[in-house]
This record gives sequence, C-alpha cells and structure tokens, in this order.
Amino acid sequence: MATRNVRIIMSGVTGRMGYRQHLLRSILAIRDGDGIAMPDGGRLQVEPVLVGRSHDKLADIARAHDVAEFTTDLDTALADESTSVYFDAQATGERKKAILAAIAAGKHVYTEKPIAGSVAEARELAQAARSAGIINGVVHDKLYLPGLLKLKRLIDAGFFGRIMSVRGEFGYWVFTGDVQPAQRPSWNYRTEDGGGIVLDMFCHWNYVLENLFGRVQAVTAKAVTHVPERWDEQGNRYAATADDAAYGIFELEGGVLAQINSSWTVRVDRDELVEFQVDGTTGSAVAGLFGCRIQPAVCTPKPVWDPDLPTDQDFRSQWQQVPDNQEFGNGFRAQWEEFLSDVDAGRPHPYDFRAGVRGLQLVEAGLRSSEEGRRIEMERVDR
Ligand SMILES: NC(=O)c1ccc[n+]([C@@H]2O[C@H](COP(=O)([O-])OP(=O)(O)OC[C@H]3O[C@@H](n4cnc5c(N)ncnc54)[C@H](O)[C@@H]3O)[C@@H](O)[C@H]2O)c1
Repeated sequence: MATRNVRIIMSGVTGRMGYRQHLLRSILAIRDGDGIAMPDGGRLQVEPVLVGRSHDKLADIARAHDVAEFTTDLDTALADESTSVYFDAQATGERKKAILAAIAAGKHVYTEKPIAGSVAEARELAQAARSAGIINGVVHDKLYLPGLLKLKRLIDAGFFGRIMSVRGEFGYWVFTGDVQPAQRPSWNYRTEDGGGIVLDMFCHWNYVLENLFGRVQAVTAKAVTHVPERWDEQGNRYAATADDAAYGIFELEGGVLAQINSSWTVRVDRDELVEFQVDGTTGSAVAGLFGCRIQPAVCTPKPVWDPDLPTDQDFRSQWQQVPDNQEFGNGFRAQWEEFLSDVDAGRPHPYDFRAGVRGLQLVEAGLRSSEEGRRIEMERVDR
C-alpha cells in the first residue's frame, strides 16, 4: 500500500511545548517511525515546515533534527499549496490571527490550548473553521495520560457505582526567578500577555470533566495572585499581574461534584503533580499522570474518629494499583495521530474548536465567579 504525505506548518516550535512535545515527541517521532499506519493498509508520513520569529533558532532546530524546511514568513508557508495542516503552539496571545490566516488559506488547523484569549475570540475561530469546512482540533493531552486512561477504564467498567465526587489537586512550586531561575516562562504570570492559571488550567479541567464525568453546569471559584512579583528570563523584576492559584468547585451534569485546586504556589506532597480522587458508592480511585490506585467498597476499612489515640492504620497501604496491561505511548503523539487520521479521512476531530470554546467559557465563568464572589451557571451553548 502507498505512503501518503501530509505537510504540516508548525508554529511555536522554539517554545517549551512546541519543541519537546509536538515536534520531538510527536511529529519527528512519527516521521522517524515511518509514519502512521492507516486502516486501509497504507501509511501516512509527516513533513514538518517550521515557522517562527527567529531564523537562527529555526535553523538550529532544523539542522539538529534533519528538517528540510523552515521560514520566518507565515504567509509564504500558508501560500504553499503542498502544505495542508497548520499547527500552533505559540504564546497564547499570538494564536488567533495566525489561525484565522491559516483557515483563510484553507488549511486544517490543530492547536495548543487555549484556542484563543477569550470566548468571543474562540467563537470567531470556531465559526471561521465551520464556514471554511476545515478539520479543526485542540490539544486534549490530559485525556491521554496513563493514569486518566486507567480511570476511564474503571468508569467504563462501572467500578464506581454512582460517582459522587471528584477532588483534583494540581500544582507545584514555580520558582520566582530571583535566587533560582523560574521553570515556566514569565508571560505565564502576566495577564496582559495571556498568562494566568485559570486561563491555563480551566481549559484542561473542562475537557477532563466533560469527557470523564459530565459537562460543567456551574462553577464557584476563587482565583488569587499569591506571589505578586517575580523575575523574568533576563533577571528583571516584574509585577505578576496574573492569578497563580485557583480554588474551584464544579457542578456537573448528572450530579457529580468536582473540586479542583490549581496552584503554582504549592509544595508537592503527593505521588504526582496532578491527582484526582474519585469517590463512588461502590469504590474509589486516585489517578495521577501515570498511576491509578483503587479501593473497592468491599475492601474499605472502617476508620473510627478518636482524637485521643494516634492512628495505627497506614491508609495509603490500603489501596491497590491498577495494572498497566498495555503500553502507553506519549499522549501528545497519540492525539496527533488521531487528528491526522481524521484529516486523512476527511472526518471531524472529536476534540474540536467547539470544545475549545467550552474550555474558555469555563475560564471566563471561573474568573467572573472569583471577581463577583458568587456561583456562575454555564451558558448551555456550543454543544
Ligand atoms: N497542553 C499542555 O499541557 C500545555 C502546557 C504548557 C503550555 N501549553 C500551551 O502551549 C502554548 C505555548 O506555551 P509554552 O509554555 O510552550 O510557551 P513558550 O514561551 O515556551 O513558547 C512560546 C512560543 O511562542 C513563540 N512566540 C511567538 N510570538 C511570541 C510572543 N509575542 N511572545 C512570546 N512568545 C512568542 C515563541 O517564540 C515560542 O516558540 C501556550 O498557548 C500554552 O497555553 C499547553
């Protein structure tokens, strides 16, 4: 069977996500593995065309990874009819105009989240994509984490009975950049540059919740800036204008209550950087990036509250690990393969711009809830 080629314009490949997860771990890994095996027996091979602001940085990446084409001129890449997909991992504030240009050029579009900086902008993108009839997708990487795939297995098997609640803890200490360099880019801490943990993480929580437990119907959140000043990549002090922690309660369709703390100002006392505890009538689970522990109802010990006695139970040891039972590949690559297969087949990608709009609706509702100090019901649109 023949090999087909898909040429992909990739923007933002000098950045953290664009370089490591999308270029190296996804597209180049697919290329070096002879492409994607297709259902008709053929293979779909990928050819990246790198786009960015710095000729020298792109040239270095291209040389290091044997990539034939790069340019600092997006319009030239878009005008090239042999390219059919545009991918965007730029800083969020740069995304909308590039995606609109790509749609106008008739390219299919895959993008990092959030798809834009606001619901209004995201709707504009979703509308433009729909009118142009292009395949569109937004990264839903957390759904492909081994821990969450095991959690999905448990849900599909009916392990939990009726799910009552979900408690999520996400976060770690991001250095302020003065004594030790920060491990995240400084724009993340400036609202004016598209930063903020609500904008960053509520998009993720929206698709995790809607795909595993039910659509979000209402949110109550408090977003705060615990650390008001930080030091940037050049060592200059700047005002951290964006929220660096958010404490949220999400009411889901079907009655599940989810609470998720998101924080760049917390020190980790967990097994993994994100963990979700799910409690159901017939069992509970704690899922992280990789692991997933369970405690079925029939194996649940009976703790008794007694403030006079130190506890003699090792609660952590009372849980059982869910086995892998399969090989879990890189989640970014897995979704790339699905997106490109959808493009090849001419069918919609399930995690599309409308899902991106819903993610931003949750962001805006969360921020509004925090500002106004009240519970916000979600608009029932963009289904
Ligand atoms: N899916 C995930 O888990 C995940 C994780 C982190 C970030 N992201 C998203 O990926 C995108 C990139 O984040 P990152 O952490 O890789 O950022 P980064 O700062 O490391 O990279 C940003 C990229 O955008 C380019 N860029 C273009 N114009 C720019 C401008 N005016 N200012 C700054 N950079 C500009 C940079 O050159 C670079 O290639 C963001 O939209 C972010 O929300 C997703």
